[in-house]
Amino acid sequence: MSTMSFSIPRTIFYGEGSLGKLAGLKGKRAAIVTGGSSMKKFGFLDQAQALLAKAGIESIIIDGVEPNPSVETVKKGGETMLAFAPDWIVAIGGGSALDAAKVMWCFYEHPQLSFEDIITPGSMPSLRNKAKFIAIPSTSGTASEITAFSVITDTQKHIKYPIVAADMVPDIAILDPALPMTMPKHITANTGMDVMAHAVEAVASNAATAFTDPYAVQAIKMVLDTLPTAYAEPKNLEARLAMHEASALAGMAFTNASLGLVHSMAHKIGGEFGVTHGLANAILLPYVIAYNRKFSNKYTYAEKLLGLQDLSAAIQEMNKKMDIPSCFKDCTEVDFNEAKFKEVLARMSQHAFEDPCTLTNPGKPTAADVQMLFEAAYYGKAVN
Ligand SMILES: NC(=O)c1ccc[n+]([C@@H]2O[C@H](COP(=O)([O-])OP(=O)(O)OC[C@H]3O[C@@H](n4cnc5c(N)ncnc54)[C@H](O)[C@@H]3O)[C@@H](O)[C@H]2O)c1
Ligand SMILES: [Zn+2]
Repeated sequence: MSTMSFSIPRTIFYGEGSLGKLAGLKGKRAAIVTGGSSMKKFGFLDQAQALLAKAGIESIIIDGVEPNPSVETVKKGGETMLAFAPDWIVAIGGGSALDAAKVMWCFYEHPQLSFEDIITPGSMPSLRNKAKFIAIPSTSGTASEITAFSVITDTQKHIKYPIVAADMVPDIAILDPALPMTMPKHITANTGMDVMAHAVEAVASNAATAFTDPYAVQAIKMVLDTLPTAYAEPKNLEARLAMHEASALAGMAFTNASLGLVHSMAHKIGGEFGVTHGLANAILLPYVIAYNRKFSNKYTYAEKLLGLQDLSAAIQEMNKKMDIPSCFKDCTEVDFNEAKFKEVLARMSQHAFEDPCTLTNPGKPTAADVQMLFEAAYYGKAVN
């Protein structure tokens, strides 16, 4: 038996109006990191800056973090932070903004490092020598506000790298349901199914424990109960808060239990085709569950606790309700050209096989198994 650990942010503020907690911070300077334009457009950036000013904290904004943030973006953000010398980093936005802010934080604290220096899980040196970190998610999806992970894309190599470092677990997470309320329907659907993927993969993970299972199973229940409402009624505050909580709960499970093949494969097909992370997960989930059932009784465990007949069928039904296609060939978000799929299949399968998330997948899939699963999920074929 080995010693284990369970780490989550020190404080999670949640509920209506919790953004206001920014006014209670102690510090001098804050770097606010955000994405394209939604946080500005809906007034949350102005609110955050005003609340920080109330606390006597001067702030700058580092904006323009793109979906699937790149190595260049995080390097540049680190340099901006170095010039401003913040003692707080406030990340506000979707998972992309939060993830990028975490790695900017690392390059701010350790400007001599290159991206290659931090790719190996656990290789990042200690943080919090210069600043602490607050994460305020605007999607109910990645749970980057809770986790020790950040996903950064090497745009030259077309590879998404999951960066893993215990020190990247934020100090404070703020779950204010006003932020996700402005998500358009398709983003609600995709990010919501990312929560489902986190929870399901955390339950089935080889590293699941008595500490992680309750969070994961509760998150599955809350997604099943509330995602259809959050999707159909975007302004339903109760459903938005429940999905925000479900996302964080799933995060508490998977940051400690890790994930599995759904994520390994989503990272690589995302890198090759640019498909949205949650959408890729939603499509992959039923195929990977069908494959993994041979090696794990944890799906049955979750089904029993939730009073569900068939988890996979429940996921397929939710996908259908939210217009998520059942295979990549039918997906119109990006061009899933068959010739390109065939051309990249072997490389993508090998990369997914080597992804750190594969280590905790139940069973021991080979690169050939991963290729078979990619083919099944592309053409909509049954998994044998
Ligand atoms: N850190 C982790 O543990 C972890 C886990 C899973 C995935 N990820 C990564 O996170 C990224 C995806 O993050 P995401 O799914 O949150 O999406 P995202 O951050 O890429 O945002 C998607 C789009 O939604 C918009 N948006 C976000 N919030 C909005 C709001 N409230 N109203 C209107 N528009 C809004 C953004 O501007 C963007 O255009 C991927 O790079 C993925 O690989 C990280
Ligand atoms: Zn995910």
